[in-house]
Amino acid sequence: MANIAKKNTAAVTAQEVPVHVGVIMDGNGRWAKKRNLPRKFGHREGAKNFRAITRHAKAVGVKYITFYAFSTENWKRPKDEVDSIMELFEKYLDEVRDFVEENIRIRFIGDRSALSETLRRKMAAVEEDSKDFNAMTLVLAINYGGRDEICHSVQQIAKMVKAGQIEPEEITQELIEKNLYTEEIPPLDLVIRPSGEQRLSNFMIWQAAYAEFYYTNILWPDFKNEDFDEAIKAYSERNRRFGGV
Ligand code: IPE
Ligand code: IPE
Ligand code: MG
Repeated sequence: MANIAKKNTAAVTAQEVPVHVGVIMDGNGRWAKKRNLPRKFGHREGAKNFRAITRHAKAVGVKYITFYAFSTENWKRPKDEVDSIMELFEKYLDEVRDFVEENIRIRFIGDRSALSETLRRKMAAVEEDSKDFNAMTLVLAINYGGRDEICHSVQQIAKMVKAGQIEPEEITQELIEKNLYTEEIPPLDLVIRPSGEQRLSNFMIWQAAYAEFYYTNILWPDFKNEDFDEAIKAYSERNRRFGGV
């Protein structure tokens, strides 16, 4: 009964807050196009937004937030667009250091081998400097693809089998999970996708197996704290069954 009463109010209680939220930051290009600006202006605006939403998510009580910033498929875009996105990452990796003072741990998921030396160095440094923080974990998915991640996990496991460390029968879901980029990060509870698209686009396909999906037509640069609250509220009203009754 208490539950029904609660759902009539806008406030969401602690236990209804998702532990891990994933955000597919989509719609930057369309945001710029609407204003007759080059696409890179949309990316610049979108990048500003992720810091505000991170702080808000922490205030709401979210423990892990993952932002999909660049997919393994996004290299297909024109070189100047890719270059401007990479430049933004460098800039934001400097600014993201502010979070270190807010007890936020920062982690990166994705294949780093294709990224520049400078970027990789900055990523490793910020991960190292924030590794003991525990108020919230901010995960940035850069050159990330869910299929690529699973492939990478399988390769690690194949090496173990080849070395005679384990038998093929000993390959479990836990072992596959342990070798994903998200080791020690819990599965997704809620995936938010702005811009109206209703697809995962290779985002955390393993970890999202039982996530609730929320989409909105708002473009990512226009997505504000109130929109995040709407998503959390929608989540709190879902009935997750995980295959049970
Ligand atoms: C998301 O915005 C940012 C990245 C994929 C890097 P888009 O650039 O995909 O924006 P739209 O979908 O073209 O509007
Ligand atoms: C998904 O957006 C990737 C990121 C937000 C980083 P896309 O814009 O690349 O996805 P599609 O092409 O519309 O599926
Ligand atoms: Mg897009």
